[in-house]
Amino acid sequence: MIAMRDSFDRDITYLRLSVTDLCDLRCRYCMPAEGVEKKRHEDICSVEELLEIARAAVACGVRKVRLTGGEPLVRRGILDICRGVAAIPGVEELCLTTNGVRLPALADGLRSAGVDRLNVSLDTLRPDRYAYITRVGRLEDVSAGLRAAEAAGFTGTKLNVVLMKGFNDDEIGDFVHLTEDRDIEVRFIELMPIGQGGAAEYLPCGAVLEACPDLEPVDLSGVARRYRRPGARGLVGLIQPMSCRFCNRCDRIRVTADGMLKPCLHSAGEIPLRGLHGLDLERAIRAGIAAKPERHHMAETGRSEAERDMNRIGG
Ligand code: 5AD
Ligand code: SF4
Repeated sequence: MIAMRDSFDRDITYLRLSVTDLCDLRCRYCMPAEGVEKKRHEDICSVEELLEIARAAVACGVRKVRLTGGEPLVRRGILDICRGVAAIPGVEELCLTTNGVRLPALADGLRSAGVDRLNVSLDTLRPDRYAYITRVGRLEDVSAGLRAAEAAGFTGTKLNVVLMKGFNDDEIGDFVHLTEDRDIEVRFIELMPIGQGGAAEYLPCGAVLEACPDLEPVDLSGVARRYRRPGARGLVGLIQPMSCRFCNRCDRIRVTADGMLKPCLHSAGEIPLRGLHGLDLERAIRAGIAAKPERHHMAETGRSEAERDMNRIGG
């Protein structure tokens, strides 16, 4: 299938599909303390609807699918969703972003259901800080989850670390150290002024290069700029939506758990997909790709134009 090109010459090949906006954690920069109101069952796409959307997106040129949330592993039927997406001809890569807490129970199942790679969100390596930032989480659950993922045969797992000034800037070295003898990529992500993002303090990714001046560039062309410590097995990635806007390289569209296509994470524009089938569904997706904005304006305005919290978009 030929990828669809948007109005700014970008090939759109990557779908981020949110399967729920619920989460078993309450990260301060992502969710309000009280959590989110549980949507009525019928307001969230069914497994069959999600698969129909994924199939239509593939018909429009998508080759990589990532399942997101909220927390995708709290969604009932998550393994059916994974199996279904993995079985779509044309899906070359199926990934999933998780907080890792439920991986001890689910890693094997995800692997057999056809998930190729995992991203695990982990902002600190200190148990007390983890309990603070997630409000309810326990670091030992994520550590067990990472071990379970490895035991299940997952390789190239990525750790997503949202950089926060005064919270984890003194742990940059510890995170980079994890790449020495492990086949992982530690990805530092700049905090974005979206949803609850104001609950923590922004720190540009430049702080990573200052803390670890021996990092050597490996590939600076992607959304994540990749570096390696000399001799290290793993990689360090920098994702800099704020300090080094990568919109010109954006290759993705998003679909929320309630079936809205978001051509851009930071724009208010949403196209309803529910109730559409076959060619109508494909047409709506193509229209969304054609309407993808050129870029976000967070650096100028200090805020995202998205009208949802991150847990309701999927990161
Ligand atoms: N800025 C940057 N990243 C965020 N995430 C959630 N909220 C924000 C924000 N305001 C990240 C999570 C996770 C992914 C799903 O999105 O930490 O890694
Ligand atoms: Fe949940 Fe992920 Fe948001 Fe944390 S960052 S509250 S794990 S959706």
